[in-house]
Amino acid sequence: MRINPRCSVNKETQVYLVGAGPGDTGLITVKGLKCLQKADVVLYDKLVNVELLKEAPEDAELIYVGKQKGSHLLPQEQINQLLAEKACLGRIVVRLKGGDPFVFGRGGEEAEYLQSQSIPFEIVPGVTAGFAAAAYAGIPVTHRDCTTSVTLVTGHAKGESAEEPKLNWSSLALGEGTLVFYMGLSNLNTICRELMANGRSDATPLAIISRATTDDQLTMTTTLGNACQDVAEINVPTPAVIIVGEVVSMRDQLRWFDRNQD
Ligand SMILES: C[S@@+](CC[C@H](N)C(=O)[O-])C[C@H]1O[C@@H](n2cnc3c(N)ncnc32)[C@H](O)[C@@H]1O
Repeated sequence: MRINPRCSVNKETQVYLVGAGPGDTGLITVKGLKCLQKADVVLYDKLVNVELLKEAPEDAELIYVGKQKGSHLLPQEQINQLLAEKACLGRIVVRLKGGDPFVFGRGGEEAEYLQSQSIPFEIVPGVTAGFAAAAYAGIPVTHRDCTTSVTLVTGHAKGESAEEPKLNWSSLALGEGTLVFYMGLSNLNTICRELMANGRSDATPLAIISRATTDDQLTMTTTLGNACQDVAEINVPTPAVIIVGEVVSMRDQLRWFDRNQD
């Protein structure tokens, strides 16, 4: 990659877009941890477990950019510019993002911006919340007996109203594939209604996993037909993922995390 001529870069200069994982600090990758340990600057999001920041050098600059649904402390354009600005000072910059940077994490937009500025970057994948939540809830997202596919879906697509995400419901409802919805809790009503209207049985098992992989993990299981009523009865904290599919019923046998906590 051609180095940006306006930057005082040296060969150490690099932006690392690092996935911090879903919450359990043990779920960051070894490579991600090594990046953090040599960082001069760390820009981190709301969903990052702040315990991980202790891994950065004592004199590292830690910048909270506070991204969460509906409220960005800094708009995305300013985050992009800040990344470039810090890198252009010749610093090792870690952009620490919850889960995986490329799964509903705007990592693609940040990488595009860095590329447009000719600033060198690397992407360090992370364990995405949907897969981690499923694993910690004892729900195999695929299983030869039930399903051969899994789809990650946003419950809150770009530019659409919070109430009505415009998804291709007929293709999502089709077949038996597992669906994992991110940012979907506030649209649970729409999700259940559209999946049933497009052919999924109201008896399809559904799980909601909140604060996955942390000591506060809360897992509830219900069905597509009963989910809204059941959720109304308890206050489910965010962040949460919604898993729809027959695999959810395997939790009865395979739940291990909350069983170990009992
Ligand atoms: C903006 S997306 C970021 C996803 C992230 N890049 C990833 O790969 O996990 C935020 C959504 O991820 C999900 N999420 C993140 N961390 C979670 C956790 N610990 N437990 C449950 N859901 C989580 C929620 O659906 C939340 O609304």
